Amino acid sequence: MEKPLRVILGAGLLVIAGCQGGKIAQAPNCPEAPPNWDQHSASRPWLVAVSHVDMDLELDFEARRLHGTAVYSLRRTDPGAPLILDVAALDGISVWGPEGQPREFSLSAPQERIGQALVIELQAADQAVTVSWSTRPEGEALQWLGPEQTASALQPFMYSQGQAILTRSWLPIQDTPGNRVSWSAEVSAPRELRVVMSGEGTGAQEIPGQPGRLLWQHELSLPVPPYLIALACGRLERRAISPRVAIFAEPVTIDLAADELADLDAMLATAEQLFGPYRWGRYDVLVLPPAFPYGGMENPLLTFVNPTILAGDRSLISLIAHELAHSWSGNLVTNETWEDFWLNEGFTVYCEQRIIEALYGVPRSNMEKALARTELLAEMETLEPWQTVLAIDLEGHHPDMGFSWVPYEKGALLLRRIEELVGREDVDDFLRGWFEGRAFRSASTADFEEYLLHGLAELRPGAMANLDLELWLRGPGLPDDAPQAVSEPLLMVDAAVSRLIAGTDPGEIETADWNTFQWLRMIHGLGQDAGPELLESLDLSFGLTSTGNAEVLCAWLELGTLGGYEGVQQRLEEFLLTVGRRKYLVPLYTALCASPEGRTRARRIYAQARPLYHAVSTATLDPLIHD
Ligand code: BES
Ligand code: ZN
Repeated sequence: MEKPLRVILGAGLLVIAGCQGGKIAQAPNCPEAPPNWDQHSASRPWLVAVSHVDMDLELDFEARRLHGTAVYSLRRTDPGAPLILDVAALDGISVWGPEGQPREFSLSAPQERIGQALVIELQAADQAVTVSWSTRPEGEALQWLGPEQTASALQPFMYSQGQAILTRSWLPIQDTPGNRVSWSAEVSAPRELRVVMSGEGTGAQEIPGQPGRLLWQHELSLPVPPYLIALACGRLERRAISPRVAIFAEPVTIDLAADELADLDAMLATAEQLFGPYRWGRYDVLVLPPAFPYGGMENPLLTFVNPTILAGDRSLISLIAHELAHSWSGNLVTNETWEDFWLNEGFTVYCEQRIIEALYGVPRSNMEKALARTELLAEMETLEPWQTVLAIDLEGHHPDMGFSWVPYEKGALLLRRIEELVGREDVDDFLRGWFEGRAFRSASTADFEEYLLHGLAELRPGAMANLDLELWLRGPGLPDDAPQAVSEPLLMVDAAVSRLIAGTDPGEIETADWNTFQWLRMIHGLGQDAGPELLESLDLSFGLTSTGNAEVLCAWLELGTLGGYEGVQQRLEEFLLTVGRRKYLVPLYTALCASPEGRTRARRIYAQARPLYHAVSTATLDPLIHD
């Protein structure tokens, strides 16, 4: 397989004993790479795989470093092959054999945002090795926040974000979704803080000679891809919602969070009815500070969320439905490489929509579907054709280049199209069979095709003959047969928007019972047509600049900025200086940069805000601001 080495390591950097260079030799004890191997990892788990990692971690908030030592249990298929781990931005790496004797290792040249291969020669009897390291403050996965970036401003906070290929910057690991590991961890942290992880917490204990610190234990015996190993540490309170659901949040946020997420147990029960048993035990949610670059991240047993989802009226709960759905699509059945990312996200959006429909009814789910389809089509206009393909070719690209609404919405639309063709009952069987048959394994687009062709297509050949699967999976853009959800409440808003543009006074529009989705539709619908006067009168009538709903606020601030409405500027600046969620930052900075004066403001605000943002957000924003 030449592809992985060309992208990750550069030609000829690494020669691996038994399997020369980029070509896998056909020696009997040198098993060939799987057909769909991951180009974003230098590891070769088909030769030597890590099966369990046992971590000893120490959090140093002053230095903004994590110091780690980990014992890796190995599954060796090729006795001559070294262990290759992915690492990025790590210092002080040392390696020992099972008896504690130092071991030779080498590091390939670093590649920006991809990292290095840590190559460890193994001895015949080695069933485990030990590695120690320290993270660098600039490593991409961990964000270290000062007290002023938390809700209570009292204590510092740190958390990890592993997806897609960031885990390697805090833990040397075979950082590919194609290999799963179980893990255990002991984490030492200042005693005022609590450590939480994406596994089962088994308590905290004193550390002899270190009265100011506690040692927190977690473990996960179920195997997970490394991007799902996560930790966070801060001043956190825990509030149980039900026997298997709890919320962790800063003390000043816990009441709001617990109220907003009060329906979580019912949501979990609904998801189980739809997709089969929940296999992970607990389902907890951690509310992070607003610097978190995503809305939510499906870390197993402990979804991480941005506090911007706490709207006060439970209107943004579909994000939790989404992260919960990942407990099946993504965490149980995992995309084999980042080119199969649509299998994670497309399935998850489909499942999320099913949960929302079951809990809140068809009209609500149709509203969300219709809005999402519009966003997909709008975004597609800005993407290159190759980025609009579901089975994306990421050769030479960071996985983040494949991140857009395409894997999410186009993926979900494909499943909805299949549902239209064969009916809901068959799709439900199809889904449950997919999750059950591949539980705790990874799946590729080719696996999906095969499962579809030998399952549904054989069962319903007539109906499935109408599906152009090749076009859906490998063609650009959105196929004509993509389903369209019709939403009456949104059509009413469209009519109101036409009246507003034609000059009707906003006070005459009946908005008393509008929900979040209708407000979003109005703001999107006004688009290019709103000038400063109309925007100001809308603001006077509806108080949009002071809304507490982050989705509505972001859409409004973008519209206001593009439309030259000065009234949004102060709130915009406050927002950009506290919230680090990339989905909001990108349109807002882009809107600012649309005018020369705005660009100057954008640069000034960004210079101040940048230290508050996670590396995921700055990696996208740096080129946008400085171009
Ligand atoms: N798994 C994703 C977040 C992610 C994707 C992180 C790729 C890193 C790389 C998560 O489930 C997600 O999709 N979050 C969305 C919310 C969702 C409702 C569309 C987000 O954060 O906005
Ligand atoms: Zn997702």
